[in-house]
Amino acid sequence: MARLNVDIKDLRLKNPVLTASGTFGYGLEFADFVPLDELGGIIVKGTTLAPREGNDYPRMAETPMGMLNCVGLQNKGVDFFCESIYPQIKEIRTNMIVNVSGSSPENYAACAERIATLDRIPAIELNISCPNVKDGGMAFGVTCQGAASVVSAVRKVYPKTLIVKLSPNVTNIADIARACEAEGADSVSLINTLMGMAVDIEKRQPLLSIRTGGLSGPAVKPVALRMVYDVAHAVKIPVIGLGGISNATDALEFMMCGATAIEIGTANFIDPSVTMKVIREMNAWLDRHGVRDVREIIGVIA
Ligand SMILES: Cc1cc2nc3c(=O)[nH]c(=O)nc-3n(C[C@H](O)[C@H](O)[C@H](O)COP(=O)(O)O)c2cc1C
Repeated sequence: MARLNVDIKDLRLKNPVLTASGTFGYGLEFADFVPLDELGGIIVKGTTLAPREGNDYPRMAETPMGMLNCVGLQNKGVDFFCESIYPQIKEIRTNMIVNVSGSSPENYAACAERIATLDRIPAIELNISCPNVKDGGMAFGVTCQGAASVVSAVRKVYPKTLIVKLSPNVTNIADIARACEAEGADSVSLINTLMGMAVDIEKRQPLLSIRTGGLSGPAVKPVALRMVYDVAHAVKIPVIGLGGISNATDALEFMMCGATAIEIGTANFIDPSVTMKVIREMNAWLDRHGVRDVREIIGVIA
């Protein structure tokens, strides 16, 4: 058996497989399918300072090789998370990571500061890349200045591992990654969803309530892979890769392009136990190729 553990700054992952925010609930919803403590980590649903209703329905649409969503960060707010969700998830023996969103740098920082008080949450993933909310999210992730303003505000109040999730809806994602690194991010994760649209020709209307949504699933994988490759060559901090990963081959491609760890999102909807298969098959691939330590394959593509 190869050695599978990797580090994201102070965060020790028992293997490189994490679940992507918004696709795995709070983990508990998947407990019947996945031994949660065997995951490298679980990135829980997006959390904001105040509760959010999310967007009107319809907010999901199937596409060839993927899906569009415009859920819009529906959640009950950080107080509810701390008081009602945290007590239920704090005994899960893996890294429980909270995905944090906001509408201003101060607002992100206030949410992060609250989560910093929770002992069993060793890291947050800052979502500066949600394409489905008007008041924030992607607005910050598409300029270096916007990204820097959020990371710098959060870094001042958040001492644990800080991962920043990047938007693919930009011209040069490596520039944004460098801006986050300069403000003290410990890691960047990418990609969030790509902006897309679908149309109902009978109604002559967009399929989604807010017209556009975020595309995810296998369709986005080549774009995500190229971006991970670009970012891994632009920063020194560890990169977490995601976008369309649905098997161990996909995961290994991201790692060879420079990802230290990977997240699995939409594939959980198709096969709720996909994460376990990826860990098992990754192990088998490493054994077959005589690789004793998964870290040997990170960034092998120059
Ligand atoms: C239904 C749904 C909800 C999502 N919610 C969030 C969220 O709350 N925060 C976030 O950062 N990303 C969210 N995402 C984006 C995913 O975490 C991931 O970045 C994206 O789907 C690409 O990975 P995938 O192709 O493996 O799904 C969501 C994606 C989907 C499909």
